[in-house]
Amino acid sequence: MPKMKKIGLLTSGGDSPGINPCIRAVVHEAVQQNVKVVAFKRGFAGLLDNDCFEMVLNDVSGIIQKGGTILLTSRCEEFKYEEAQKEAINNLIKNECDGLIVIGGDGSFRGACAIADRGVQVVGIPATIDNDIYGADMALGTDTAMNSIIEVIDKIKDTASSHERTFIIETMGRNSGYLALMSGIATGAEAVLIPEVRYDLEKIALRIKNRYKQGKISNIIIVAEGAATAYHVGRQLSKIAGIISKITVLGHIQRGGSPSAFDRVLGSRLGSTAVLHLLKDKTSCMVGLVKGDIKVSSFDTVFNNKKELGPSLIKLAEVLGK
Ligand code: F6P
Repeated sequence: MPKMKKIGLLTSGGDSPGINPCIRAVVHEAVQQNVKVVAFKRGFAGLLDNDCFEMVLNDVSGIIQKGGTILLTSRCEEFKYEEAQKEAINNLIKNECDGLIVIGGDGSFRGACAIADRGVQVVGIPATIDNDIYGADMALGTDTAMNSIIEVIDKIKDTASSHERTFIIETMGRNSGYLALMSGIATGAEAVLIPEVRYDLEKIALRIKNRYKQGKISNIIIVAEGAATAYHVGRQLSKIAGIISKITVLGHIQRGGSPSAFDRVLGSRLGSTAVLHLLKDKTSCMVGLVKGDIKVSSFDTVFNNKKELGPSLIKLAEVLGK
């Protein structure tokens, strides 16, 4: 196989902090390896529109501390269709790209895999605050998101204790309870509701009531968006036990912000390793942090396995919340 001369790069799906350091590392490693980088804007949408430019070191100067993605991103529904995938391959050929790096989450990897199935060498980099990708102990952006969440909850706790209130806080995470669970442990939440574990609002309501009688006058309940809405939980607690609560839906503040040191280093490691693997003819795979090292997993492995939350962490959150 002749050595690659040009690789494509795109960021797709929800943005997450750490993507910019990762883009930076891709460009630096590529330059080191004498490979050119063609960046497509707005993820797969830009690949379809052939909206691209050649990236040089100056393009990635001063971006390591920035949240979001300088390449822009989108969720491209059209890419599910064969016609779109063929068009994407045409554009990669037009731009003489021998391979492609896709930075994104599960949905983006489905698109990446479709291109790989058509013969293009593709390596994925897991970036999502949801931390729901098998083969990546920590996806890019999760650490920063957790830090953003706990910063806000710490502030809410001041008001909760001053006013003797119960707060219900809704976190993102789509179908994963990772952010809610870890933030619950990190902030000493009284209860954490996640989609992975059945919960009983009646039991939670009675526990809060009993603890109130014992002198526990403020409470933080964290609800993962995949488990329920905070408003629903609030209504139920009021109905079951007359508990009056305040609601905070954290929303997109969880996705933005300057990447943490962890995400900057992780993004740099993943970006550099992805380039090196692409040059070693690896394809249809993802690079991810596993037990401290960057390991490669095939897209098949990633799609066919479910990332589980550790039962010990779930137990710990329960014990600490009592
Ligand atoms: O996948 C990341 C994520 O932030 C999820 O936690 C959330 O459910 C979803 O994206 C929100 O997507 P959007 O920004 O497109 O509304």
